[in-house]
Amino acid sequence: MSDVLGADVALADLPLREDLRGRSPYGAPQLEVPVRLNTNENPFPPPPELVADVTEAVREAARELHRYPDRDAVALREDLAAYLTSATGVAVAQQNVWAANGSNEVLQQVLQAFGGPGRTALGFEPSYSMHPILSAGTRTEWVPAPRRADFSLDGAEAAAVVAERRPDVVFVTSPNNPTGQVVQPADLRAVLEAAPGVVVVDEAYIEFSAQPSAIALIEQFPAKLIVSRTMSKAFAFAGGRLGYLAAAPAVIDALLLVRLPYHLSAVTQAAARAALRHADATLGSVRTLAEERDRVVGALRGMGFEPVRSDANFVLFGPFADAHESWKRYLERGVLIRDVGIPGHLRVTIGTAAENDAFLEASRALAEASEENR
Ligand SMILES: Cc1ncc(COP(=O)(O)O)c(C=O)c1O
Repeated sequence: MSDVLGADVALADLPLREDLRGRSPYGAPQLEVPVRLNTNENPFPPPPELVADVTEAVREAARELHRYPDRDAVALREDLAAYLTSATGVAVAQQNVWAANGSNEVLQQVLQAFGGPGRTALGFEPSYSMHPILSAGTRTEWVPAPRRADFSLDGAEAAAVVAERRPDVVFVTSPNNPTGQVVQPADLRAVLEAAPGVVVVDEAYIEFSAQPSAIALIEQFPAKLIVSRTMSKAFAFAGGRLGYLAAAPAVIDALLLVRLPYHLSAVTQAAARAALRHADATLGSVRTLAEERDRVVGALRGMGFEPVRSDANFVLFGPFADAHESWKRYLERGVLIRDVGIPGHLRVTIGTAAENDAFLEASRALAEASEENR
């Protein structure tokens, strides 16, 4: 007998959907170690002015907590549209923007509306592991397609596979997680032209790259293109849970059919709007992180590692004879990085200069230890 209510029942005893049996939940380890470089967060905490503004905004929102929030989050979407307009130079209206609790929820809503039983979603692997997990949750059949051996996307090949498999949803992650490269505009255009359904360009890390946003292509592909974004990375707002997308207004009408009523709490909306008012300060960290990324890449190369070119706030690197064993060696040295399941490779998030130094010191120790450890 367990002292936890109902703990005698195992997952296998439940009348779970057959297609979910044997699957594993998403689970980047959340371990208490001195240096955590495993979930691509921004290592710089929000500035005190932002904290004060968020606190004040939440205090105000609290006066109205007996009421449901604005179901359509119009004011927040206006603020996000203004940010996208200034960041991309493309006139983005409130009607072009949708927001939810992290871009994971945005992506789930896209799959609920455009995927589902009898439909397929295609992605170019290795890429963000939640795309297939969200597909499974919405009973959308996942179709993996390859990248080149150097993890970049071959536009012609990608367009050919899309034309052949005719997926209802295509995911293109740019910069790609966990490998770091952006998709070239001509390659994206080729995929868009070939796609019979919607194409989601997941731009969670776009602020770290010099690449123009795919938002510029919405005008040309209004019935196909959806560009998802997040405040979790460059905006240093991962704990606030705010993701969003830009698309034609009709796409947002489709998402309204599947979203839960009042999905974005009044507290979240108020906090995100306050954080957006400090965009200049938070986005100021982007340049520092890009410089640190280049320093880390150079240092890794100097040690004999082979880092993959990255336009994001993380770097995939190797080679390791046994990546998981090496991941453990880092952990023993108090540095938590990510084993993303790509043979011979590990991924490190760019942290503060001190965190990166700790990571590089551990890397040097691993490099020196012996060839077997690599
Ligand atoms: C490519 C990509 N898309 C989306 C997300 C989801 O981020 P969030 O739900 O925090 O907005 C992540 C998070 O790591 C990511 O790497």
